[in-house]
Amino acid sequence: MNIDSSALAALASRYSQGPKYMVAPAPSRAQWQQAADLALRAPDHGGLRPFRFVLVSEDQRASLAELFVNAARRWGQSEAEELQRAHDRAWNGPGLAALIVRLREGEPEVPAHEQLICAGAGLMNFLNALHLMGYAAKTLSGAALRDPALQAAFCQPGEQLLAWVLAGTPSKPAAARQAAADAPAVLSDWVPPNLAR
Ligand SMILES: Cc1cc2nc3c(=O)[nH]c(=O)nc-3n(C[C@H](O)[C@H](O)[C@H](O)COP(=O)(O)O)c2cc1C
Repeated sequence: MNIDSSALAALASRYSQGPKYMVAPAPSRAQWQQAADLALRAPDHGGLRPFRFVLVSEDQRASLAELFVNAARRWGQSEAEELQRAHDRAWNGPGLAALIVRLREGEPEVPAHEQLICAGAGLMNFLNALHLMGYAAKTLSGAALRDPALQAAFCQPGEQLLAWVLAGTPSKPAAARQAAADAPAVLSDWVPPNLAR
């Protein structure tokens, strides 16, 4: 078998990088599209396509900021500084996409958790594609995401705004992170139970 070790090494070097370490340019529209197309290579039981991405352009950030500020007010923030922070968050990341998930109830063959796994796998391919294009990216959620007005601004009925994906040109290389030493093994061999005969 012909193993492409450079592709494997490239995947192994993907780490999230926060907006502090992102500068312009953001991915182009064509690059976002390519990443979204690759997200569709996620395993999708029943072909339900339970996720999609929505781009927020630079000139839409002010509208997003208004939604963030209103959300902050609804959860009780009123200090000018807090509201300013909520406002400024709308400009985080040179490029911004929303991950929208639609979990269909009543699919006998494809329970909701399988649909969510598909969405997660789609997100992973999306992040890997951006990484392989040379962009830094990070998935963020945060409390504002649960605000009903913000959800309504992005979603059709039955959908849920699940996370943001921020992306831009890295201002420094991503630092490799070590897995915790006591983390359970990610791969092991099955030990069958002693079945009573
Ligand atoms: C759906 C989702 C939402 C996330 N939300 C946040 C968040 O709000 N804040 C945060 O610091 N990390 C959040 N993360 C985790 C980061 O995106 C990132 O995965 C983490 O910092 C570990 O970095 P790594 O991707 O290099 O392992 C979220 C991840 C996922 C999948």
